Amino acid sequence: MPLKFDTKRKNKVNEYLKNPIFKIISETADSLGVKAFVIGGFVRDCILNRSDKDIDIVVLGSGIDLAKAVAKNIKNKPQVTVFKRFGTASLKFRDADIEFVGARKESYSPDSRKPIVENGTLEDDQNRRDFTINAMAISLNKETYGQLTDPFGGLKDIENKLIRTPLDPDITFSDDPLRMMRAVRFSTQLGFEIANETFDSLKKNKDRLKIVSKERIADELNKIILSPVPSMGFLLLDKAGFLEIIFPELLNLKGVEELAGQFHKDNFYHTLKVLDNIAPKTDNLWLRWAAILHDIGKPATKKFIDGIWTFHAHEFVGSKMVTQIFRNMKLPMNEKMKYVEKLVRLHLRPIALVSEEVSDSALRRLLFDAGDETEDLMTLCEADITSKNEEKVKRFLENFRIVRQKLKEVEEKDKVRNWQPPITGDLIISTFNMNPNKDIGIIKDAVKDAILDGIIENTYQAAFELMLREAEKLGYKQIDKNGK
Ligand code: CTP
Repeated sequence: MPLKFDTKRKNKVNEYLKNPIFKIISETADSLGVKAFVIGGFVRDCILNRSDKDIDIVVLGSGIDLAKAVAKNIKNKPQVTVFKRFGTASLKFRDADIEFVGARKESYSPDSRKPIVENGTLEDDQNRRDFTINAMAISLNKETYGQLTDPFGGLKDIENKLIRTPLDPDITFSDDPLRMMRAVRFSTQLGFEIANETFDSLKKNKDRLKIVSKERIADELNKIILSPVPSMGFLLLDKAGFLEIIFPELLNLKGVEELAGQFHKDNFYHTLKVLDNIAPKTDNLWLRWAAILHDIGKPATKKFIDGIWTFHAHEFVGSKMVTQIFRNMKLPMNEKMKYVEKLVRLHLRPIALVSEEVSDSALRRLLFDAGDETEDLMTLCEADITSKNEEKVKRFLENFRIVRQKLKEVEEKDKVRNWQPPITGDLIISTFNMNPNKDIGIIKDAVKDAILDGIIENTYQAAFELMLREAEKLGYKQIDKNGK
């Protein structure tokens, strides 16, 4: 029996159903004599009053035929993309992607994600979906327009903020193990709890994650990271035993060791706090990744020296680990990765600038090294303050506010942020007619450092003269016009 919404929900859902595409689908389905429903994430999100640009339509019949007929009834006749093999078709209407699929019954073989598909009823189609909240359908045919079919109590689970599978979770997860990551992701995105039975099944089936492609796992992980309180997801991933499979380096941060009465902090929980701290400040996924990875080099550098725990050079070791982690997780090996590497490498630098007597030269150096990432670096450093002592937090934040102010002043004065040193490697080679070798780097750095330290003026002439002197120290002489 189709359920009815309460008035409040109904009004909300009706708002979303006002999108003219639903009227077009309704009339087209009626004229073809097929039943059509909007189903899945769109229904969930309109009940939750969240916007969702993807609309999934399920048809008791051919999804491809309905899509083609709908396209004909739309003024600008959008193109229909047909995936014959999957029996699906999609089209764009304004900024929405609309996918049409025939109702189906699916089963999966135990060692593959490829389903065996047959035509089915609406109920069959709902049975094969991942969670009760994703299995609701709203009828679009005129006679029953707006009626909700909710066979597994998805509406109630939304009310109770619960993630639950429609069938025995072992079956739902074994059909498609990616759903185990999705359970954690929806729980984190929506702030819902995972039902006990469903969670037990996550733990039990965790090894099935190994057959899921890394790209798909990374997609889900990124959605967890972009959630309002990402730590919630990481704690679940840990509790379910997923971290050891998908992100062992992070798990490695966990634990507190004691020697001679000295404890160090638990860097796993610290990292999660940093991530939660940065979440309200930025939606930049890669800045959030930098927060996750900022201390990743700590386990490898941990030492107990003279009665204290040290993590000397963890920022360099950590930044070197970024490439490997990105490669393993199939995250992009491009400028995003370089950005994360850079922030991890530099994350301790602003702390050194807190002292009152900090020189302009130290500030210039950070601006030069951090460049366009200076602001993001400061945001990361502020998030890195996880003390429970409010007084301390206030003081540290105030210190960083002063550093930000000083950086701003020096940048306005000296413009070193995107500054290119005037002496290039090519210029050195042609001036001294030398073969490329390590001395070029030495000369270049000496000139760059002298400018940043304010020893010489930031002019081409001053830089050129210093280059001559530095090269001479290394035994090079400037060649004349004839190349001698
Ligand atoms: N679905 C499923 N199992 C999956 C993926 C999807 O059962 N592994 C079903 C769910 O009913 C889901 C619908 O297909 O609601 C659409 O999937 P998708 O677009 O991936 O997710 P949404 O639920 O729409 O959520 P989001 O857009 O946030 O990914």
